[in-house]
Amino acid sequence: MYRWFILLCLFFPLLTQADAPGDVIDGARLYARHCAACHGMRGDGGVGVPLRLPDFQAGVSDAYFERTIRLGRPGRVMPAFRDLDDVEVSAIIRHVRSWAVTDAPPHDATPVRGDVKRGAGLFAKHCAVCHGAQGEGGAGTGVTFSRPRDLPVIAPALNNPGFLTAASDRMIRDTVARGRAGTPMVSFREQGFSEQDLDDVVAYMRSFGERPYDVPIDASDEPATLVFDSPHDLVTTVEALVRAAEGRNFRHIRTQTLEEGLWPEGEDDPHQVVVYFCNFEFLNRALQVDPRVGLFLPCRVTAVERDGRVQVLAINPKRLSSHYNNRELNRMCEEMYGLYVEIIEEATL
Ligand code: HEC
Ligand code: HEC
Repeated sequence: MYRWFILLCLFFPLLTQADAPGDVIDGARLYARHCAACHGMRGDGGVGVPLRLPDFQAGVSDAYFERTIRLGRPGRVMPAFRDLDDVEVSAIIRHVRSWAVTDAPPHDATPVRGDVKRGAGLFAKHCAVCHGAQGEGGAGTGVTFSRPRDLPVIAPALNNPGFLTAASDRMIRDTVARGRAGTPMVSFREQGFSEQDLDDVVAYMRSFGERPYDVPIDASDEPATLVFDSPHDLVTTVEALVRAAEGRNFRHIRTQTLEEGLWPEGEDDPHQVVVYFCNFEFLNRALQVDPRVGLFLPCRVTAVERDGRVQVLAINPKRLSSHYNNRELNRMCEEMYGLYVEIIEEATL
């Protein structure tokens, strides 16, 4: 009885805390779950830009924060969090704000007017080197695990519809004027920009929103798994898969039962077979684009025999890549999807 009481005392606070929505603890937990992998547990940055910087905290309103979480940055690495409810989003913001040393500025929708053409000249001269000629952001995608970085913090895309919708003119102007100490983004007021220069460069950045933006594919309707019926028996199907893959410049790595290694030899189910194949040139190209493809490459296709029927299954690379929000990777996964389908269709003809 006493033991139970101790246990209850130990776990009861945890249980009640976990259920109280929107408090600081909840925000920390949500942040750890959804944001920390990229922005760092303490907001020091990583794949994502740092969020604890005093200049960042002092320069952006809660409205900017909320919209950024909701909209993400389509085509960049920052995902859109559509499934979090308002209470959860506020809790995350409160958690990130707990690192701030100043109050958040209010949202200020006063428009900034300036000379777009003059702003274009200033942007080309002072900003394009980091943010790209069209504001498309720093080289690569923000993922810098294994590649040399051209900057300690990757410059965000400024032509991004997520950014342009989230940011007010005032926020953009203030960021350019103030800079973000601790990153390559310097204060342009200190660099000698006049108030007019600031207005003009903001007016130019706003004009990004008038240009067409290549929206990344939406694969949310794609099935997670590709499933094909095979008219052949299992052995013939597996042989045909290997042949079809080799015919498309893939190297056959191995064929094994799905359960191999899980059970003592001979006890694994012989009716579930996995074929591994790889195209090393493709793999290297994909790893350059995003090291996370290591999670699902080399390719594997599973052939399963159930009730005398043979089916071939593969993960759908298009659906997978949609989670990574990386346009270049999406393109490669489209290519991979095409190859998967060709290989499996040929083998199950
Ligand atoms: C030396 C590289 C460099 C230059 C030059 C530079 N920036 Fe930046 N900029 C960055 C980096 C890096 C960040 C991200 C800072 C951070 O971590 O918060 C940034 C952030 C920004 C942001 C905030 C974006 C966001 O998502 O919150 C704006 C706006 C911006 N820069 C505009 C400009 C403008 C306009 C110019 C030219 C007048 C300029 N930058 C010049 C590197 C640069
Ligand atoms: C998969 C990585 C990833 C995850 C997960 C992620 N972010 Fe980001 N985030 C980024 C990157 C990268 C950027 C910079 C955008 C760019 O490069 O154009 C960014 C930008 C931002 C910005 C704009 C920063 C600025 O300088 O204005 C905010 C705010 C932000 N993220 C908050 C969050 C929050 C809150 C979460 C969790 C709910 C989250 N992010 C989850 C990668 C991520």
